[in-house]
Amino acid sequence: MNMDTLKLILVALAALWMVYVLVDYLVPYFYGLPAKPTRHARIRKALKLAGLRPGETLIDLGCGDGRVLILAAKEFEAQAIGIDAGPVQVARAWINGLFSGVGTQIQVHWGNFLKADLPDADVVFAYLTSDYVPKLEAKLTSQLKPGARVVTISFDFSNWEPDAFDEDELIFVYKMPPHAGDLGTFLLKRE
Ligand SMILES: C[S@@+](CC[C@H](N)C(=O)[O-])C[C@H]1O[C@@H](n2cnc3c(N)ncnc32)[C@H](O)[C@@H]1O
Repeated sequence: MNMDTLKLILVALAALWMVYVLVDYLVPYFYGLPAKPTRHARIRKALKLAGLRPGETLIDLGCGDGRVLILAAKEFEAQAIGIDAGPVQVARAWINGLFSGVGTQIQVHWGNFLKADLPDADVVFAYLTSDYVPKLEAKLTSQLKPGARVVTISFDFSNWEPDAFDEDELIFVYKMPPHAGDLGTFLLKRE
């Protein structure tokens, strides 16, 4: 291989890498959210607080690299479904799921979760921002079955009173159908 061919290969690899990085960052950014993963200890705490049980179905809205799905499948024996708008995130979640050994317990879908059906969900996990609250409130209220739980990380529903709250990790759990109120009414009752 001469020097020119080697240079061409290196330039092509660098261009591919740049496209990968751009798609990785830009698609989540376009949806108004960086693809920032949740720490494993925080996920574990959130799923415990939501009372995820073996055989139940968990849906992660914006599944990123799939870590929530894998932990839910491995440690909680749940069926886990992830939806993400980012093609790089979906590919990563799918590959991570494949190598994690949880096989058919995990499904990953590419798309906008606001357009997805959620009727079979027992637990919905969301690490998003409060910008999603108005649309999610309506969607979750109309689509989730009674008894389903919604667990959120770092953001809460301003018109719903949580059923559980972890103030160290900022985790909120809501049981469907939600009760009117907010974190303030929850904390008042807890005193
Ligand atoms: C903060 S990350 C959380 C990733 C993962 N759930 C976790 O906790 O590690 C949010 C993810 O949501 C995805 N996302 C944002 N808006 C979305 C939408 N409307 N539909 C699908 N995915 C979306 C982003 O691509 C990103 O991967």
